Amino acid sequence: MVNIQKTAVIGCGFVGSTIAYTLMQKGTFSEMVLLDENHAKAEGEAMDISHGLPFAHAMDIRAGSYDDIADAAVIIITAGANQKPGETRLDLVQKNARIMRSIISEIKRVNCEGILLIVSNPVDILTQVALKESGFPKERVIGSGTVLDTARLKYLLSEKLNVDSRNVHAFIAGEHGDSELAVWSCANIYGIPLEDFAKIRGYKSFEKEKDEIYHAVRDSAYEIIERKGATYYGIGMAAAKIAEAVVRDSHTVAPVSVSLSGEYGLSGLCLSIPSVIGRGGAEQVLEISLAGEEKEKLKASAEELRGVLDTIRQ
Ligand SMILES: NC(=O)c1ccc[n+]([C@@H]2O[C@H](COP(=O)([O-])OP(=O)(O)OC[C@H]3O[C@@H](n4cnc5c(N)ncnc54)[C@H](O)[C@@H]3O)[C@@H](O)[C@H]2O)c1
Repeated sequence: MVNIQKTAVIGCGFVGSTIAYTLMQKGTFSEMVLLDENHAKAEGEAMDISHGLPFAHAMDIRAGSYDDIADAAVIIITAGANQKPGETRLDLVQKNARIMRSIISEIKRVNCEGILLIVSNPVDILTQVALKESGFPKERVIGSGTVLDTARLKYLLSEKLNVDSRNVHAFIAGEHGDSELAVWSCANIYGIPLEDFAKIRGYKSFEKEKDEIYHAVRDSAYEIIERKGATYYGIGMAAAKIAEAVVRDSHTVAPVSVSLSGEYGLSGLCLSIPSVIGRGGAEQVLEISLAGEEKEKLKASAEELRGVLDTIRQ
């Protein structure tokens, strides 16, 4: 039986501990189990994060083992090596695929029935690995995908147009990585098409700005890692938002990494497409009409990922 009030975070490094801290502050769950290969690290994080509880919500936070997470509603996996300066997400593939397989075999051993939320990179590849190894229905295996990149896009657009980022509706699709694409044909500010809004804000043309923003989004992780060695606050918020959508059954639309079965003419791989997220996980993948150039870019992104998947298929 799944306990909808319970979550687990596997991997308590920069990303896992930040997600745990964010979830504690939000009060989304009443129970959270932290796991790490380095058990002392999980214990230390559980202690440190628990000390914030008097300022937040009543909640039980502890370090544990796989036997303690069998009934968790959302299992968030962040274990694995992170990108080193100059390293792409795809460079991490072999070592993190091995780690993912070992984690999933433990999750299967204890018969978890919850939703798996994969965050470790390369996230699209590892979501596919988790799906295959677990044998779970595809709705139950979600990658955080381009939810973070989408937040970066919204933020940068809001800065350029001097508008609240929560009024910006735009998203990044495809790989969470170098081949991702901005779906400009759907971008709007409070329902006003992006180009019209940019005109209202004084831009004659917004093409150059769009291009700059896309590149800044795509290269954000590199820029941050170059300066501080890792990224974790943005993904902390993004992962917490996805977990919250499951627990609250909110039918939130977000571009999570999901396994495709024919949508956009693609199948047999995971990449980010806006999907409806609720108690069942990624309950519906939205097949929307894209501009011709966007369709091509999505296909190219899928090809890139398929090439990497082929290198790890046994
Ligand atoms: N999807 C995204 O948007 C996004 C954003 C940022 C980082 N990431 C990814 O998240 C991952 C974690 O990054 P980080 O900065 O926290 O790295 P980190 O090195 O700080 O933490 C990784 C943790 O995983 C643990 N670990 C390793 N193998 C394990 C295993 N088999 N079982 C349990 N725990 C294990 C390590 O002990 C360590 O504590 C990386 O793959 C990184 O690229 C993803």
